[in-house]
Amino acid sequence: MGLPLYVSRNGVLIPPSQASVPIFNSALYGAFGVYESMQVANGVVFEQGAHLVRLARSAGILELPLPASLATFERWIAEVLAVNAAPDCTLRLFVVGAENGGEVTAFIWPQPTVAYPPALYAHGAPAITFEGQRFLPEAKSLNTLVSFLSRRRAHAIGAHEALLHHGGAFTEGSNSNLFAVIEGIVLTPPAEAVLSGVTRDVLFSLAAENDVALREARLAVRDLPRWDECFITSSTRHIMPITTIDGRPVGDGEVGPLTRRLMALFEAYFAQATAREASVLRR
Ligand SMILES: Cc1ncc(COP(=O)(O)O)c(C=O)c1O
Repeated sequence: MGLPLYVSRNGVLIPPSQASVPIFNSALYGAFGVYESMQVANGVVFEQGAHLVRLARSAGILELPLPASLATFERWIAEVLAVNAAPDCTLRLFVVGAENGGEVTAFIWPQPTVAYPPALYAHGAPAITFEGQRFLPEAKSLNTLVSFLSRRRAHAIGAHEALLHHGGAFTEGSNSNLFAVIEGIVLTPPAEAVLSGVTRDVLFSLAAENDVALREARLAVRDLPRWDECFITSSTRHIMPITTIDGRPVGDGEVGPLTRRLMALFEAYFAQATAREASVLRR
């Protein structure tokens, strides 16, 4: 799958060439808009309800009215997946603000899922640190410049992700949530300072069900040498271990046992949640 056959624009299926935003739209000068990225496997949108609730929360933070109810969004998603015959993809959803009295517009389309090299999961990925923070961090807004610049710097030196910090503490990855393991406890920065990731939320439930100690805590940059393990989470990556930060090994530089355990728990949950029987395309 390269370009989709159709993009949904407020529920109307249009060719990708028509899926555009005028230069006058405040999405361009102002980044006034919100978005979501969801994983689709076997025709099942993983945690669709949670993504749509977050979409509404992000829009609320920006005081951007959504163009339809969440139930209507679910219908638009099912339609665009069916017309593109895209049972396995990453689903992108943008809602951009109205300009000059025009309508608020939601664009939804499938794109190929990024296949990260298996070695990143087997041996861990390199990350860098980057000072900066997203504006309105609880919202998944189109204002992603700090994410873009930090990730570009990471990629330029062969690292996979940039870990953002501000005021002496880590917040999140450029487009991921951050977790550190210190003395057998999994720690992640508090939700107020970060995007509350859907993957992060699933991990909290899985940890609680499986007696893994997982808590929110301030992760001071100066405590980095105390970290035994580190990993990041996101919809496209699931759980990815981080084994070097700024060229220095995290712990012993290997993927740690708690990271491996959570990876296995998450993959089992994902496989079950997206099993073929749950497919929206077969309903
Ligand atoms: C800044 C930021 N934090 C965290 C995440 C992870 O969120 P999710 O697990 O919902 O994909 C993302 C995803 O793109 C992100 O952009």
